[in-house]
Amino acid sequence: MNGEKLPSIPGYDIVRVLGQGGMATVYLAVQESFGRPVALKVMSPHLLAQRDFAQRFYSEARMVASLSHPNIVTVYDVGAYEQYHYLAMEYHTAGHLGELIEKGDISSQEALKISAQLARALAFAHENGIVHRDLKPDNVLFSKHGSPILTDFGIARDLHIDTQMTQIGSTVGTPKYMSPEQARGEKVDGRADLYSLGVMIYEMLTGAPPFSAGDTVTLAIKHCQDPVPPLPMTAGRFQPLLDRLLAKDPKFRYQTGNEVADAIDQLLKPPAAQAAAAPAAASAPLSFDSLPAKAAAPVSPSVPTGPANSFYKSSDVESGGFFSKKIERSVNFSADDFEEFSTYFQKMTDELAEWRQKNGKKANTLHLSIEAHPWINKRIIDKLNADFGPGHPYGDFANSGTITLHLYEPGGAEQGKRYMLRDKGTRPTAAG
Ligand SMILES: Nc1ncnc2c1ncn2[C@@H]1O[C@H](COP(=O)(O)OP(=O)(O)O)[C@@H](O)[C@H]1O
Ligand SMILES: [Mg+2]
Repeated sequence: MNGEKLPSIPGYDIVRVLGQGGMATVYLAVQESFGRPVALKVMSPHLLAQRDFAQRFYSEARMVASLSHPNIVTVYDVGAYEQYHYLAMEYHTAGHLGELIEKGDISSQEALKISAQLARALAFAHENGIVHRDLKPDNVLFSKHGSPILTDFGIARDLHIDTQMTQIGSTVGTPKYMSPEQARGEKVDGRADLYSLGVMIYEMLTGAPPFSAGDTVTLAIKHCQDPVPPLPMTAGRFQPLLDRLLAKDPKFRYQTGNEVADAIDQLLKPPAAQAAAAPAAASAPLSFDSLPAKAAAPVSPSVPTGPANSFYKSSDVESGGFFSKKIERSVNFSADDFEEFSTYFQKMTDELAEWRQKNGKKANTLHLSIEAHPWINKRIIDKLNADFGPGHPYGDFANSGTITLHLYEPGGAEQGKRYMLRDKGTRPTAAG
C-alpha cells in the first residue's frame, strides 16, 4: 500500500493489508477482546458522502451477519469509529479461487464439488433475501480445511452501482461474471448469481471465461447476445448444466441454488453408483464435505476407543457483534455401541435444555462430533432425525436452531461425512 498509514480502530490491532478494492480495504487484525485474528473490512471513507450510507451499510451488514452457513463467511462484528465503517470477519488463510484458477490445477471433479457447495450457500443467502451480486473467483476464499467460503456480499453495493456504470473500465474491472440483466442495469434476483456461478464453472473447467473482449461494453454485449460456446470434448457432459446456468433469460435458468447443486451432485455420481445410491440418498440428510474450522473443532486424537476411553465433552463459542451475538455449542462424544450413544444423547439433551434456558435465542447452533463405529452410523442419524418433536428439548431446539453432525471413526479418523441436520429449524429436504 502506498505508504498510507493503517487506520486505528478501538478494539482491533491492525496488522497489515490483506486486500484492497474500490470500496474497501481488508486488513488482517487482532480482535483484542478474544485475541483472535480477524479480517477487518474497512469501507472507504469517501463513501460517507453517499446519502444514507451509514444506515444502509448497517442494514446490509446485519443481514449478512445473520447468515450462518458453513460456506459463507462468518461476520463477528460491525461498527463505526470516526470516519471508518467496518466489518470484522472470520479470517481465512488458504487464498481464493482466483488464485487456484490462475494456477490451472483444478480438476473437473474439484470444480464441481466447489460449485455445488457454492450453489447451496447461494440458495441459503437467497432464501434469506440476500443476492450476492458480485460473485467471482476473488470472492470465494478457502478455509484451511479447503472448503470454499463465499465472501464480499453486496454491502452497500447498490450505492456504488451508479459510479460503477459511469466509470466502466476503471474501478470495477471487467463485467466478466456479470449476468445480462446486470449488464443492462436491470433489477436482479438470485438467478443473476447463478449466471455468475455458471461463468465461474466454465472458467474452472476450461481455464478461460466463456466470453471475453477488449473492452467492457463489448463484453457486456456478448453476455447479452452471444451463445454459450461449446465446451471442449473432454468436458462435454457438463454442457447442459452450463447452458442452463448461462441462459440469457433468467427464467430459463435453474431457479434456485439447490436445483443447481442437485444437478451437480447427479453429475458427480459415477453412472453405476447412481442407481445403487438412490435408496440411501432418499433417507440421507443434506451432507457437506466440510464445515468451518470451529465446527470441526475438538476431536480427541487417536486414543483407542473402548468403554475405558469413552468421553463426552461440550464447549461454547461466542461470536457476533452487538447486532448478532451467537453462542454455538460443540458437543463431542464417543459411542462404542448404540446404548452408549443413547446415554450420551440423553446427557446432551438435558444440557441443551439448560443451555437454551440460560441463553435463549442467542444459543442457536449445535455442532455434534460423534466418534462411533461405522456400523451404528445409520441408527445414530435415524435417531437424530427422528427426535424433532416439540416438547422434547432436543426437538424444540431443532425447530429453531442449526445442527450439524460430524461422524468420526474410533481413533478420530474422519468418516468423510458431515451432515446438516437442521438449518435454522428448517429440515433440509431429504436429497431425493
Ligand atoms: N475473511 C477473509 N479472510 C482472509 N482474506 C480476506 C477475507 N476477506 C477478504 N479477504 C481478502 O481481501 C480481498 C478483498 O476482500 P473483499 O471482501 O472481496 O473486498 P472488495 O470489496 O474490496 O473486493 C479478498 O479477495 C481477499 O484476498
Ligand atoms: Mg471482492
